[in-house]
Amino acid sequence: MKSIIKTENLRLYYGKKEALHGISLEIPEKQITALIGPSGCGKSTFLRSLNRMNDLIDNVTITGTVKINDHDIYAPKTDIVKLRQDVGMVFQQPNPFSFSIYENVSFGLKLAGITDKEEIDARVEESLKQAAIWEVVKDRLNDNAQGLSGGQQQRICIARVLATRPEVILMDEPTSALDPISASQIEETMIKLSQDYTIVTVTHNMQQASRISDMTALFVAGKVVEYDETSTIFMNPKEQVTSDYINGIFG
Ligand SMILES: Nc1ncnc2c1ncn2[C@@H]1O[C@H](COP(=O)(O)OP(=O)(O)O)[C@@H](O)[C@H]1O
Ligand SMILES: [Mg+2]
Repeated sequence: MKSIIKTENLRLYYGKKEALHGISLEIPEKQITALIGPSGCGKSTFLRSLNRMNDLIDNVTITGTVKINDHDIYAPKTDIVKLRQDVGMVFQQPNPFSFSIYENVSFGLKLAGITDKEEIDARVEESLKQAAIWEVVKDRLNDNAQGLSGGQQQRICIARVLATRPEVILMDEPTSALDPISASQIEETMIKLSQDYTIVTVTHNMQQASRISDMTALFVAGKVVEYDETSTIFMNPKEQVTSDYINGIFG
């Protein structure tokens, strides 16, 4: 299977504190990779390092490499706006802007310099369909996105990411602020999206990781202690610490 993301000996420091202790991972294309592990083990930090969101935090030092499609994303010539369009991100708290559904979804297109109204309309519709919310919102695209329910807002955020046609979607506990029905609907959408996109998702929910992911990486204290096919991680892990974590012995 082709890997699309390769990190090599990735280390990240907040000030002097090392949060990622040399992570080397190859993440396969068009699969769902779940990052699991106890709070504070570096899952969000790792995720943010894949589209340079950590650049926005003061005092961060990064060594090692992150390659996406064999391109070193920390190379000085990297276009960061383009990178974040190719590698989009969805957060735990749905965070649509306080403007219309249409403006939310088309936001990245303006940044990408797309001005043709027909093109924008088509992309908005396509993205809302892929995010499985077109039928709900098609007659009220001018309504404020923050008036929607939490699960619907999260779909708008997914559509906003899809509009720029990314290759990779990073999701940081995308369902943990949602009710169980919305959460399971988002899971279904993630599975569908993984036919066309590479998804890297953080989850605290072991059932969710085992239901939806192809690969699972267990992080503990800034290191990946085991990374394998999800079925192996859950049914036949090689490390005792993995078995302990998935059985709820710590975490
Ligand atoms: N902006 C930040 N500044 C300083 N330390 C941070 C920052 N974000 C995270 N950390 C620290 O880095 C470590 C990893 O955090 P994080 O990546 O958020 O873990 P997780 O997502 O697995 O809960 C923790 O010790 C956390 O306190
Ligand atoms: Mg986190």
